[in-house]
Amino acid sequence: MSWKIGNLEISGRAVLAPMAGAGDRAFRETCARFGAAYTVSEMVSSKALQFGDRKTRELMELGKNARPTGIQIFGSEPAVMAEAAKKAMEFSPDFIDINMGCPAPKITSPGAGSALMKNPPLCGEIVAAVVDAVPVPVTVKMRAGWDAQNINAPEVAEICEQAGVAAIAVHARTRAQQYTPPADWGIIKKVRQAVKIPVIGNGDVTGAQSAALMLEQTGCDAVMVGRGALGNPWVFRQINDYLTESCRIVPPPGIYERMLVMVQHIDLMCRYKGETRAMNEARKHVAWYLKGIRGAAEFRKRAGSLCTRSDLDMLVRDIIAAQQGTELDGCLI
Ligand SMILES: Cc1cc2nc3c(=O)[nH]c(=O)nc-3n(C[C@H](O)[C@H](O)[C@H](O)COP(=O)(O)O)c2cc1C
Repeated sequence: MSWKIGNLEISGRAVLAPMAGAGDRAFRETCARFGAAYTVSEMVSSKALQFGDRKTRELMELGKNARPTGIQIFGSEPAVMAEAAKKAMEFSPDFIDINMGCPAPKITSPGAGSALMKNPPLCGEIVAAVVDAVPVPVTVKMRAGWDAQNINAPEVAEICEQAGVAAIAVHARTRAQQYTPPADWGIIKKVRQAVKIPVIGNGDVTGAQSAALMLEQTGCDAVMVGRGALGNPWVFRQINDYLTESCRIVPPPGIYERMLVMVQHIDLMCRYKGETRAMNEARKHVAWYLKGIRGAAEFRKRAGSLCTRSDLDMLVRDIIAAQQGTELDGCLI
């Protein structure tokens, strides 16, 4: 089950997608604990990196518990991206990832993120500059293309490979599609056929079976899980068990394990960000962890006003009490 990104050994075939606003250090460490083969930081602005403000630096704090891990940078100027990558090395990432997929107008208007897909030669220049600047492997995360008329991921992937990139993750949607329509995995297969370096497929992997299907249908080397991991970090354990133990389906955890993992995750957030900010940011994570439980709608409302760590304890106590007699209640750690 091991493979390589450049000289970096990766064990396991399911990785955590970079997610701004959700994939912070605490969540990455939680997913790594459940077997994410690698993790990637939230995207960091190459321009902001020049100034090194506190918030930008915090995005790059990696710790040792989510290794291997990469720092993702975005921007559209080769020299600025190269400088940013050098600065990011202060935080000891195992690799640098270049964002060619973000659809937000704030990022694409100045030509970064998925807008780079409209300019394949520039993609090559950015990759070459970053590869030259750092001693670690460089990866790219791209989309299928800008829109339905401009699906060019295989071409951009080839250019990036020639420029020295060590692996490519492909989110199988165009920029125009944002996040909603079903991902078209056919593009991942085409990228796989176009390059020799590892290809990581991304889009709509939500569990063990979809992971196995993507690997089989596209020939990709690994799958990248984004939204499917939110409130569900054990998805990596489920995928790994399914792939290594001849299609063994591990049931989802019972209520006690779910709540324990959630609390441990939020405790990490408190440790890294301080209680006030962490509890504010934890509200959305708690809502994700509640998916499918009895009384979820009501508990989600309460999650929306969590302020302190002890509010969380009270919420968890009530959630557990409300599950008595449900399937989840019977399913212990
Ligand atoms: C909340 C959120 C934040 C995201 N932030 C980033 C980001 O910082 N960098 C990036 O390359 N992709 C980002 N993405 C895209 C994901 O990495 C992934 O490509 C996308 O969600 C599709 O995968 P999925 O179907 O498994 O969710 C983000 C997605 C979400 C939902």
